[in-house]
Amino acid sequence: MSVSKPADLKTKTARLRIWRGSSRETGSYQEFEVPFEEGDSVLDGLVRIRMTQDPGLAIRFSCFNANVCKECTMLIDGEVEYACIAKLRAGVMHLDPDPNLPLLRDLVTDSLSQKERW
Ligand code: FES
Repeated sequence: MSVSKPADLKTKTARLRIWRGSSRETGSYQEFEVPFEEGDSVLDGLVRIRMTQDPGLAIRFSCFNANVCKECTMLIDGEVEYACIAKLRAGVMHLDPDPNLPLLRDLVTDSLSQKERW
């Protein structure tokens, strides 16, 4: 990941509609505009949001783009994917917590229950 100030990026802009909350029944979506360079991952965008717009956004990752920890799984435009592998694209993208795991908060689910299944 390259961490650059948004003004330094030769960018496109993704509009990430991110599910927020600690309950699937009472949460809601919040939209963030995220500048990105071609090839940046969804996880790059989420980290950029935490650094520049909302440090309270809950995300989880460990290996960051190595596809090893499997802690960054989430629903990206309706498909369960690794946020560290999925690429940002211009326009609206919908991000939801993994529907197969217990929700903790925002995009963080209980990955321990996932590892027990492996
Ligand atoms: S951050 Fe480890 S698999 Fe995505």
